[in-house]
Amino acid sequence: MATGEFYALANEQGAAFGEAHAKSILMGEHSVVYGQPAIALPVTSLRTMAWIDRVEDSPVLFSMDGEVISIDELPNRFASIAAATRAALRKFGLPEQDLLIRLRSGIPPAAGLGGSAAVAHAVIDAVRDLADGALTEAERFELVQEAERVAHGNPSGLDATATRAAGPVYFQRGKFHPLRVGKKMWLVIGDTGVRGSTSIAVARVRGFVDSHRVRGQQLLDDLGDLTDAAVRHLAKGDITRLGQRMNAAQSALDELGVGHETISDLVTAARLAGASGAKLTGAGCGGCVIALADSVDHADLIAHAMMGANAVATWTVEVNPS
Ligand code: PMV
Repeated sequence: MATGEFYALANEQGAAFGEAHAKSILMGEHSVVYGQPAIALPVTSLRTMAWIDRVEDSPVLFSMDGEVISIDELPNRFASIAAATRAALRKFGLPEQDLLIRLRSGIPPAAGLGGSAAVAHAVIDAVRDLADGALTEAERFELVQEAERVAHGNPSGLDATATRAAGPVYFQRGKFHPLRVGKKMWLVIGDTGVRGSTSIAVARVRGFVDSHRVRGQQLLDDLGDLTDAAVRHLAKGDITRLGQRMNAAQSALDELGVGHETISDLVTAARLAGASGAKLTGAGCGGCVIALADSVDHADLIAHAMMGANAVATWTVEVNPS
């Protein structure tokens, strides 16, 4: 559904409302879990929205994908949505009953685009709206993290931060700040269609680091250095060097064990189409790939090349100077 239609729905219904958007990690996934820095960008064209209405004599119900399911019967893959709802209701002292929560999401799930954090934000903000209450950014972050721990064990907090951010952010150990962008650039996101699990991917990296201590630490340190270099290139608008850092990060992530043949196919197609750099984004083992372009025409070319290499969808994100 297009963003405009989402907003039309939001306005029409007059229910308590919350929303958040997708995110893409430019640099630093996985190494961020070990305290290294990361850069994330909002993807505002992909959004999740939640509306809450009061209903009578009912458990908390969710309406999504054309089905109505009670909070106690949500399938395991939606456990983090139940956790976000319960955390927010508890925070505002609301009873866990008599609510209908409608969810609409344009963010592909389990694709490395922050879908679980975005839905947690949307539900929490809708509960806040229902309670007519307020949340500081720190309280909001903690509530989303509670849900994210259910979704993937030991989340760094990057997704919880980036799915609310208005522009590119630098994130390290729970703290973040906005980043400068020296020149307009375009990021093409290509979806491999392979659905991974963040916790399995995080465990895979842990396995590598535990069994190859020296090399593992070296790769994590390298990813941290590449991220810091990327911050400087982003600020200067040096797309060529930024792309080189992305390519180097892809090699390190591959060696850490979170690559996938579909990722390699899209990365190769993007580079052959002239992308300055291309790498996986998010947890890997499938999910999405990002590629950097210096013009919208070039971004179109890269998107076509990715579709030719069996991407199931692509999205182009403008990264504006700031
Ligand atoms: O694939 P996503 O959107 O869940 O991103 C996960 C990013 C990781 O660095 C792999 C994990 C984390 O908690 O930061």
